[in-house]
Amino acid sequence: MRYNLFLQRKNMLHSVTTEQYESLLDQLATHGYAILPHFIPNSLVRQLAQRAKSLQRAGVLRDASVGKHILLNTAIRGDSTYWLDENSPHVAEHDYFTLMNSVKNQINRALYLGLDTLESHFALYPIGSFYKTHLDQFQTDIYKHDDLRKLSCIIYLNEDWHPDDGGELRVYSDFERGQFVDISPAGGTLVAFLSEQFYHEVLPAKRERLSLTGWFKTRANTLL
Ligand code: OGA
Ligand code: MN
Repeated sequence: MRYNLFLQRKNMLHSVTTEQYESLLDQLATHGYAILPHFIPNSLVRQLAQRAKSLQRAGVLRDASVGKHILLNTAIRGDSTYWLDENSPHVAEHDYFTLMNSVKNQINRALYLGLDTLESHFALYPIGSFYKTHLDQFQTDIYKHDDLRKLSCIIYLNEDWHPDDGGELRVYSDFERGQFVDISPAGGTLVAFLSEQFYHEVLPAKRERLSLTGWFKTRANTLL
């Protein structure tokens, strides 16, 4: 098995296999979305989960129902979020951005999506909370000068997640026909989909649920 190494620290090696990258590209090219269990190395999943937990303890997570641009309400989403800084000195955050940069390069090389910047947040869903069906690309006029979200990439950070725990991500493969796939938020799973095409929702869970979502954007002026 060949490894596509992206990081090597003193005693720690985070790596994603070439097969995993190929599967990501194949699935995206065929369906517009991709589901990859065990994509993120366990060592990195653990470090990112610890980081999110310590941010929670420090009280810096913010109620996501008050969005960046618009007031939502808790009937739509009940998670709390923390926006990551690409220049953070924190090792796990830095490793996450390094990994996502290699994901970006692979996708741009194979699929010409023109992915540019990445914005990311940790999201913590308390027991029973959810995020109702939505698209990640804002549709209204007031956003048209914003950079556009092109690809949504969600990484799950939940150790020992059991199917009975719920909290699935429901991605509608065909929204009009009511066809969907449910993905259990097990630690290490990566889900990626074209932001403007796929409606999705987060179902309530019996456990606290942790995710790290990143959106690759394209530059607005290439599309306007
Ligand atoms: C989002 C989102 C899904 C998840 O933050 O826009 O859809 O599983 N998150 O956390
Ligand atoms: Mn979403």
